[in-house]
Amino acid sequence: MGIEIKPLSAALGAEVIGLDLSRPLDDKTFETLRAAWLEALVLVFRDLHGMSVEQHLAISRRFGRLNTDLKAEKTLDGHPEILVLSTLKKNGEFVGNPGGGQFWHVDLYFERIPAMAGFLHAIEVPSAPGVGDTLFANMYAAYEALAKDTKRRVDGRTNRVSRVKSWPINYPDKPPLTDAQKAAYADVFHPLVRTHPETGRKALFIGDVTAGTVEGLPEDEGDALLRELREFAIQPRFVYTHRWRPGDALLWDNRCTYHAATPFDQNRYRRHMHRTTIMDDRVPV
Ligand code: SIN
Repeated sequence: MGIEIKPLSAALGAEVIGLDLSRPLDDKTFETLRAAWLEALVLVFRDLHGMSVEQHLAISRRFGRLNTDLKAEKTLDGHPEILVLSTLKKNGEFVGNPGGGQFWHVDLYFERIPAMAGFLHAIEVPSAPGVGDTLFANMYAAYEALAKDTKRRVDGRTNRVSRVKSWPINYPDKPPLTDAQKAAYADVFHPLVRTHPETGRKALFIGDVTAGTVEGLPEDEGDALLRELREFAIQPRFVYTHRWRPGDALLWDNRCTYHAATPFDQNRYRRHMHRTTIMDDRVPV
């Protein structure tokens, strides 16, 4: 049986039906999947209740090299490639990051070469509707819909990104960065508009706006521009909201999407997920 790719929303996203991810993917099937992913930006797989860590890693590795340097994040014992997002507790401590990514961001935007993709497997999710959803914005569509004048303001502009600046804003509950961590997070520079290395399409690339300073603009003007672009990009017409079911897995293209987990009560709801982060070895931004 061939696989079926069913679009999920006008903004982005497609569900993959009829694919057995418990077996190694042959090259033809993998190419079909990869093409669907480049087109839909986010692929949704359902009912992967029994997907093992090894299977999760194997599928992720078909797409690329995995990140094993998830600084200051909670990873699975013996598996530095698996980021644990979890409200479950062991000995009174969360076993993973309970509320990661609850702001609009691009994974590893504060690195010189941000991630290519994320592959997130939901092992346990709240059954209450709308609790713990994840939102994805289509940054090609957002860029293409910008007014001509705004395109002129952003084309060719560079964003100076400081993890040190955004850390206390995004993680008020986490300890401040140590000097060693600050030194490891040197500022990086990204274009505000990025050309996707595989599709050749242009996408807005703004990351976490609290970390950015637009080069060549007064700071307040640059901050206002970043916020304006974020508000523009997260309009419902560009956004797909994923309501998780247990066993779902999502693969997103981090080079042309923007995503955010929705805040929820971490002490009330059980949400347990594993994420791999797939790196982009082909073309630096
Ligand atoms: C992430 O930002 O990678 C995690 C999103 C989520 O927890 O829904």
